[in-house]
Amino acid sequence: MQHLTVYGGHRLNGSLAVHGAKNSALPILAATLLCRGECAIERCPNLSDVEAAMVILRKLGCEVRREGTTVFVRADHAVNAPLDYAQTGKMRASVNFIGAMLGRFGSASVAQPGGCVLGQRPIDYHLSALEAMGAAVSDGENGCELHWSKPCDCEWTLPFPSVGATENVLLAAVSAPISVTLHGAAQEPEICDLCRFLQAAGADISGVGTKDLHIRGGSTLRGVRHTLISDRIETATYLAACAACGGSITLQQTAPQTLAPVLALLECAGCTVSTSDTSICLTCEGRLSGFGTVVSDAYPAFPTDAQAPLMAAATLADGISIFEERVFPERFRHAAQLKRFGAAITLQNSAAIVQGVSHLHGAEAKATDLRGGAGVLIAALAAKGESILHDTFLLDRGYDGWMQHWIDLGAEIFYETDEE
Ligand code: UD1
Repeated sequence: MQHLTVYGGHRLNGSLAVHGAKNSALPILAATLLCRGECAIERCPNLSDVEAAMVILRKLGCEVRREGTTVFVRADHAVNAPLDYAQTGKMRASVNFIGAMLGRFGSASVAQPGGCVLGQRPIDYHLSALEAMGAAVSDGENGCELHWSKPCDCEWTLPFPSVGATENVLLAAVSAPISVTLHGAAQEPEICDLCRFLQAAGADISGVGTKDLHIRGGSTLRGVRHTLISDRIETATYLAACAACGGSITLQQTAPQTLAPVLALLECAGCTVSTSDTSICLTCEGRLSGFGTVVSDAYPAFPTDAQAPLMAAATLADGISIFEERVFPERFRHAAQLKRFGAAITLQNSAAIVQGVSHLHGAEAKATDLRGGAGVLIAALAAKGESILHDTFLLDRGYDGWMQHWIDLGAEIFYETDEE
């Protein structure tokens, strides 16, 4: 086994080009299943989650190949097969395929440990909406089984603007012979990107970018070439790291307008931020002030995926920051890891209260999950001295080329083999 060794305390300087968005790539790769003819997904990040989606497509009989940053998918000869958690290794990746499989094959089977409604990341909103559209849902021998029982027009309101549920409704609806009006839809830029892909392929969707989506299904979708939008969470992560470590970085090929709450917080805390249409330059001299209260909520609010990276920066601020989670109320597993570096964090219900400290010290810690792991790495980069990080393979799920990017920005990090 390997661990990541980090010699922290270096300022970060330089520039990098942001990759295409992981959270666009996954539903759009699922959507290629609905198309006849070749799809070319440009700017597709090289990530283990994307690789898992490509494995699923191959399992379903699609021809899939990557050439540089473009992934090509031809689903003309796709065949229905149950998506097994053990086979794909990534349960969330398979959730992205429920709507597309229903749309393409008329049925879907997705392994779900413990039945259809999961503990921490349930899919009840997905299933209720699909049922309202005429899908029958049952717990079968492979897990969760769905098939079109009687596709029907429907008007449905999501109880929360769930990203995944909105995507699954879109994917199931576009090729079924029904009209669906979805209220309370998620408005994330990645949802708009999926809609733009589907529209280019021939789907009839209106209300894109609003809470009310109207889908007139039944179109035959054709293969298209589509360029993914940039990854706003990757952008936010590098910005948070520069705020924590000090220095000056420029991020290119990004979309500042999708990051307004993150940029506003960083500016209020003392960073200098300047933007063009496609770039962000952040400079941080001296100590940050606290972030105040940061509430993660559905877009356009502060993104939950940026909470852990920003929290890492907040640990060093001269003041208090309160992170309140309204999307995933228990998403604070990284807090215990940040405390290993000397951070002062108290958890209270669905909030984390961070009292900034003057410095962090090197520590042994682990990545708890993808974004939590990014937060832990930022703490190690900002801490004085040597840190040892475990399970950093989780970063491969969401940060294309991260090792080299951090090194290029001035970080001192390398992999070492664990002693037996
Ligand atoms: C997606 C993103 C993830 C991001 C999240 C919120 C992808 C691959 N993942 O996840 O990075 O953190 O949006 O922006 O795009 N919920 C239910 N029942 C459901 C569905 C959701 O109770 O059927 C709850 C969840 O537990 C959570 C909230 O709704 O509390 C939001 O979840 P959702 O927006 O669906 O997140 P994901 O699509 O899983």
